[in-house]
Amino acid sequence: MSKQQKRYLDHNSTAPMSEAAIAAYVEAARSLKGNASSLHWAGREARRRLEDARERIAAMLDAEPGSVVFTSGGTEADNIAVQGVLAQADPGRVVSTAIEHPAVLRPLERWQTDAMRARGWRVDLVRPDGSGVVSARSMIERIDRDTRLVCMMLANNETGAVQPVAEVAAHCRALGVPILVDAVQGLGKVPLDIASLDADFVALSAHKIGGPRGVGALLIRRGMRVPELAPGGGQERKRRSGTENVPGIVAFAAAMEGMDFTSTRALRDAFERELLRALPDARVFARTVERVPNTSMFALPGMDGETLLMQLDLAGFAVASGSACSSGKRDPSHVLMAMGVEREIARGAIRVSFGPDNTRDDGRALVAALVAARARLKRMAGLAA
Ligand SMILES: Cc1ncc(COP(=O)(O)O)c(C=O)c1O
Repeated sequence: MSKQQKRYLDHNSTAPMSEAAIAAYVEAARSLKGNASSLHWAGREARRRLEDARERIAAMLDAEPGSVVFTSGGTEADNIAVQGVLAQADPGRVVSTAIEHPAVLRPLERWQTDAMRARGWRVDLVRPDGSGVVSARSMIERIDRDTRLVCMMLANNETGAVQPVAEVAAHCRALGVPILVDAVQGLGKVPLDIASLDADFVALSAHKIGGPRGVGALLIRRGMRVPELAPGGGQERKRRSGTENVPGIVAFAAAMEGMDFTSTRALRDAFERELLRALPDARVFARTVERVPNTSMFALPGMDGETLLMQLDLAGFAVASGSACSSGKRDPSHVLMAMGVEREIARGAIRVSFGPDNTRDDGRALVAALVAARARLKRMAGLAA
């Protein structure tokens, strides 16, 4: 009996570490003995490698090395910006989108309580249109000089829809309103040039582009101050305490230098064509708008996403249903709900996210597995397949 082939199609949850990142990690972990804050030779060596990685990452994004603050990932980067800015602001308005990742939505909930409203805080979560894009106009309409913070993602982690962050950032800049751009899913997939984006905060994560899990960065514009979320030894120029994960950061730089999702566009587009040919009633979300090249979110009407995911898992496929970070709970995706997708359809959603390691055959095999899963589930439900 042939061994079942395992196919990994969940790169938006986490992308496997690239060979370059693994090699960089191993080399740094083996050779760097010291703490980057120590004054002796071993500390200086670690510091040199840390600063070298910072410069390489900044250069790739056209950012200033001094703006790069290393964190434990995208969640911490988002939280430092959201909680840091709002904790020191007078009551006012916060404008964000209803499709942000929980790393932004959950901290914002702290400013949405009745007590906060009574103190004068308002949090506006702007909804996308049916194609998954939050228009720049609908954001800009709500942003005025009393706005304390704007948060907008570069690309949505579920549908892949690219958001008009540059336009919104330009408006914020003109009014002097701080803006956080969560670029975690856009990094390596859509052009990201920090100098021209001109945002006050940009959140990044290494593990979505082949770097290690648990490593990320917050880019902070020169002159912006945020209090530390977890005070301690004052590392990262007093912006993020804790001993720097130098091997992880060195691997992050190596992953960034090698990141390339361009090949995934052809895989994703071919997969969607074949899916719609085999299962014409499939609903593919955000298909008409600019998306990151590797992502496809779709639903098969009448099918439950979790059940489908388990069927696909048994057949060797790793895919996600709704947001990977909230998998385990049964609520339909907040992104699809905000887009106005019917609850029953949203419950059936599956997200496939390709990586440079995938092939056309992976997409073809997935379509065949979806056809088989649907036939099986229909039989199980006592319906004619
Ligand atoms: C858009 C977005 N922001 C933030 C995060 C959180 O990043 P991390 O897993 O590095 O904490 C994710 C992870 O899925 C994400 O997709």
